[in-house]
Amino acid sequence: MPPTVIQDRISAKKEVRRIKNLPTVPGIVAKISRIVENPETSVAEVGRLISQDQVLSAKVLRMANSAFFGMSRKINTIPQALIILGFEVVKGLVLTSSVFDMIQKSMAGLWEHSIGCAAASGVIAAHLGRDDAEEVLVAGLLHDLGKVVLALNLPEEMRLVKEKVENEHLYFYEAENQVLDFDHAEIGQWLAEHWNLPESLAEPMRLHHKPEKAVLKPEWCAIVHIADIITRAKGFGNAGDMMVPPLSMAAWEILGLKKTDFLPIMEKLEPKLNSLKDLTALN
Ligand SMILES: [Fe+2]
Ligand SMILES: [Fe+2]
Repeated sequence: MPPTVIQDRISAKKEVRRIKNLPTVPGIVAKISRIVENPETSVAEVGRLISQDQVLSAKVLRMANSAFFGMSRKINTIPQALIILGFEVVKGLVLTSSVFDMIQKSMAGLWEHSIGCAAASGVIAAHLGRDDAEEVLVAGLLHDLGKVVLALNLPEEMRLVKEKVENEHLYFYEAENQVLDFDHAEIGQWLAEHWNLPESLAEPMRLHHKPEKAVLKPEWCAIVHIADIITRAKGFGNAGDMMVPPLSMAAWEILGLKKTDFLPIMEKLEPKLNSLKDLTALN
């Protein structure tokens, strides 16, 4: 690699890592991330902290009660959400809604793409009879967060990426690699490290385009990979380019899916996507 490319890469990396200094990352989110890590932390403590921010709590509760989770009873409070959905799921909802707040309209459609991918991840996990469908759903929600960071921290590079996508008909990650020498999947990994996200969530952020490389939770990476493609194929939201990437056969094999599984998955997903339309107005 020529030295300038390496230098650019290092400085872009530094730039991305500066996210922690951005005033737009609410202090409360960093605090929640930290205290959730502590095994001594009680539901009441986290609940109190999240409830201090009324807008944030309202968003988390709205997501917790949405068609995403398909709960049979209403979740009225943050402590209830913590008990029913678990710390990690609530933390994922807090992080996602705060981060997406920061980009507002600069990547229109990415929020919709993310909630579509989350819903599809949950449907595939449930179809497979997995008992971790809520966590997989959060992995789907977070998978493209690297794009948000790119839009926020490297706007000029982002403009070039978008230009390439449009003019050269490239996939978003191909254009990112040409402009930056890394892509949103790698940025997602840095972000996950920075936020102390569990490796099980970091891995799908890093490998949702290459699920065959996953070692820790190949099933989660495979589910998010397929969910990402289904969401694009359904035209739900906008991931930055309008093309549907090829489906990794490895993902299909990791999950032991058969061709006949596809129809029931789509039949379950369709009504979910329709009822999630109200969530798309959240950010
Ligand atoms: Fe992606
Ligand atoms: Fe995506």
